[in-house]
Amino acid sequence: MTNLSEFFSESVSDQLAKPLTAIAEAAFNVSKHLPFAMGKAGRLNPFGEEQTKIDVFANDVFATSLLGTSIVAEVASEELERPKTGTGSLHATMDPLDGSSNISTNNPLGSIFGFYSSPLPCSGKGMVAAAFVTYGPMLTFTFSAGDGVHRFAAVEGVNGKEFVLIDERIRLPDEAGVYGFGGLRREWIDPVETFVGSLERRGMKLRYGGTFVGDFNQVLRYGGIFAYPALKNRPRGKLRLLYEVAPMAFIVKQAGGLASDGAMDILSLEPSSLAETCPAYLGNTSLVRELERELSRRR
Ligand code: AHG
Ligand code: MN
Ligand code: MN
Repeated sequence: MTNLSEFFSESVSDQLAKPLTAIAEAAFNVSKHLPFAMGKAGRLNPFGEEQTKIDVFANDVFATSLLGTSIVAEVASEELERPKTGTGSLHATMDPLDGSSNISTNNPLGSIFGFYSSPLPCSGKGMVAAAFVTYGPMLTFTFSAGDGVHRFAAVEGVNGKEFVLIDERIRLPDEAGVYGFGGLRREWIDPVETFVGSLERRGMKLRYGGTFVGDFNQVLRYGGIFAYPALKNRPRGKLRLLYEVAPMAFIVKQAGGLASDGAMDILSLEPSSLAETCPAYLGNTSLVRELERELSRRR
């Protein structure tokens, strides 16, 4: 079985292997604390959301690990007012704990990372790698450094825990099996409602758990489409472009799919702030294009 460092030594530059390894190692630490670091932190994040203790813990662990590589110039995080700075030339974004509202219901959680060669905020054109972690029945680490998408799972190795390769060059299946759309249904804009009706008529299964990482990961596995759409009262959606959507856009593209805000490729959007949100439609190219057409007809 190929472990992460063996895989990196053959296919990823040192410049990217170091921060990606730092994340994977830190994920062991975060996952170990997940069952114990329960409760609210008593503070709000820059989006006005109540932070949980594990949001704060994961933020500290991942930021410290990334900056410790001396390769990362800044780490911008959903949980930080301002990026933390270090020495290096790579610019990192993160949602250190995605789905923290799902802690009390014991649904899977995740972490999301993006790496750029330009200072933040910048468009996805400057993205050089992206990764996500799932904390569920398996602890997994999935990444792309621009040459396919690869997934690793944590196992007990001879020298302790390690990540071993379980899926190399992941491709979205041609056949679309599942869809998951967030937000209150009555707030969906009309073309989204119409489109979802047509997905159901063609026999696609609804899969939605409320953790972007988990819901997107199912689409990657079974084919289909994930969306956190434009809402009537929130035309730019809920998900954060830099912290959540752009890294998954990079990954879905590397898996042969597409990510759109309804009109433009997510990776072409030029954010003017770190906190920008965008409607997010990710999955099989044909479905994302079909939804784009539905949206443009009604614009
Ligand atoms: P976070 O826990 O990082 O704030 O992210 C929550 C996000 C995302 O994981 C999920 O897709 C969405 O919020 C769920 O929102 P709804 O509860 O509105 O469906
Ligand atoms: Mn999130
Ligand atoms: Mn989060």
